[in-house]
Amino acid sequence: MKNSYSNIFNFNKKILKKTINNLNNGDVVGLPTETVYGLGGNAYSKKSIKKIYSLKGRPKSNPLIIHYYNIAEAVNDVEINDIFIKLYKKFCPGPITFILKRKINSKIQSIACANLKTVAIRFPKHKIIRSLLKNISFPLAMPSANKSTNVSPVTARDVFEEFKKKLNLILDGGMSKIGIESTVIDLTSEPKILRPGIVDKNILEKTLRKKIKNNIKSKKILSPGMIKKHYSPGIPVKINQTKHDGKSAFIYFGSKYKKRKNFFCLSKKSNLNEAASNLYKILRKTKKMGYKKIQISKIPNTDTGIAINDRIKRASKF
Ligand code: TXA
Ligand code: MG
Repeated sequence: MKNSYSNIFNFNKKILKKTINNLNNGDVVGLPTETVYGLGGNAYSKKSIKKIYSLKGRPKSNPLIIHYYNIAEAVNDVEINDIFIKLYKKFCPGPITFILKRKINSKIQSIACANLKTVAIRFPKHKIIRSLLKNISFPLAMPSANKSTNVSPVTARDVFEEFKKKLNLILDGGMSKIGIESTVIDLTSEPKILRPGIVDKNILEKTLRKKIKNNIKSKKILSPGMIKKHYSPGIPVKINQTKHDGKSAFIYFGSKYKKRKNFFCLSKKSNLNEAASNLYKILRKTKKMGYKKIQISKIPNTDTGIAINDRIKRASKF
């Protein structure tokens, strides 16, 4: 059924068919996942990949994540290893992305991987994206559905705000439960976390029964997308704030402050996963409400707090 946004659709069999037709024709569509909404296209089609880069205004040097229904479909494109299998069994489908070596005869468009010898793969959990992946014969290249450097979208309307009518179709899958992007782990040599997420270092170390190296700040950019300027709501963001300046939107964690007009709480219960799920929603909302600046109080730097701090630090670089 159509709603007030003529390119946002609720999911049903007819719309599934329409989405598949669009993708088969090399079109790019807005899709829900459990982390954030994505801009999906056929990973084996050059036309689709080019469209994704141009819609996002994304530098060609920044590779895309390739999304699969399950491991059986990914093995043709990437070299798998034991560590990957362990993590796959424990966390997939779910909010984790693996960097693996690309197979020589892989059908993934090399421009989707910025011509690297590696590929980022993920198996998303959201029901809608899973039924779509199950019914197509190619994986989906799918970055977050925002213009390059903007905040990632967590609702179909957020996607609409980013691209308006430039997309023929946006599937509405409700609000993304996790609310921040997947953990990215490089498994091409000793495991390294390239982007923190809710699957955090502790749980990864426990699962693998080995220490995971901190992502040593080498001069070489390991994950090209991890450029400092990112996740910007479009207004200045100040982090580690202790005092409200009287006019900005003040975002905080826990119950330390009393809720006032300009105050926005990430999680009253001091739950870091809940805070992550509210983060992008609140960043977008404050901008929309007309605030000229955002202040964010200190967020504990443990568990999912590490991922939250990573995102807000980048948001503050503008
Ligand atoms: O949760 C998510 O991962 C979302 C949803 C839509 O699945 N997708 C997402 O994609 O966040 P994107 O394009 O916004 O972020 C992908 C990240 C970037 O930091 C990119 O540089 C990194 O993954 N990446 C992709 N391929 C890589 C590779 N071969 N080596 C290292 N990093 C890679
Ligand atoms: Mg992104």
